[in-house]
Amino acid sequence: MDVMKALKERRAISFFDSGREVGRSMVEELVDTANLSPSSYNLQPWEVIVVQTPEKKKLLRSLAYNQAKVEEASAVLIIIADPGAVEANIDDVLKSQVELGYIKPDEVQKSRKGPFSLYGDPDSVTRKIWATKNTAFFAMSLMIAARGLGLETHPMDGFKEAKVKEAFSIPDNRIVPLLIAVGYPKEGAKLLPRAFRRAREKFVRFV
Ligand SMILES: Cc1cc2nc3c(=O)[nH]c(=O)nc-3n(C[C@H](O)[C@H](O)[C@H](O)COP(=O)(O)O)c2cc1C
Repeated sequence: MDVMKALKERRAISFFDSGREVGRSMVEELVDTANLSPSSYNLQPWEVIVVQTPEKKKLLRSLAYNQAKVEEASAVLIIIADPGAVEANIDDVLKSQVELGYIKPDEVQKSRKGPFSLYGDPDSVTRKIWATKNTAFFAMSLMIAARGLGLETHPMDGFKEAKVKEAFSIPDNRIVPLLIAVGYPKEGAKLLPRAFRRAREKFVRFV
């Protein structure tokens, strides 16, 4: 599907066909495609838990203000941002940069310093913003990729983060910016018109 079409067609869908599965290979294609999203220093601070069993979806629904789509969608993706991804991923990223010819071996030590000085300590606010910002790109790519595969999605931040972390064994230092329900729309369900958007003049400034 054309990317402009996918962007224009994406909607936050509330009514999913609970009888129609999104297979594992399709979920893998979605996350693999979203994994191509850009990230600062290419550090990719995202993680995903794919919730697909009826029991786990029911549990997640109970922690998400009882939103029915959490149980009705074929899969709900818990999108996780890892502020510790600088430390966790920097060596793999630098190694790949040498192998792919981005940098020379003797430039590794200098390149290693950049993200540490820009993004602060792992528990700093700067680091949390950094991880969440980059993970948001991943989330958006995933929703567009879903449209490209003929699927629908619904992003949600209506959930109790601490409880979701506890229930799904997500380490304390992680952030859960959103959940994304993924599935096929329920046949016959009426979709309301596209939600209001502000006029361009309200948010764009040409200087
Ligand atoms: C980060 C984020 C969190 C959201 N959380 C919820 C939610 O918990 N429940 C819900 O019904 N909609 C939620 N939405 C959906 C928005 O209400 C919806 O995207 C917006 O009204 C525009 O509609 P559209 O996406 O169909 O254009 C969320 C959207 C985003 C991006």
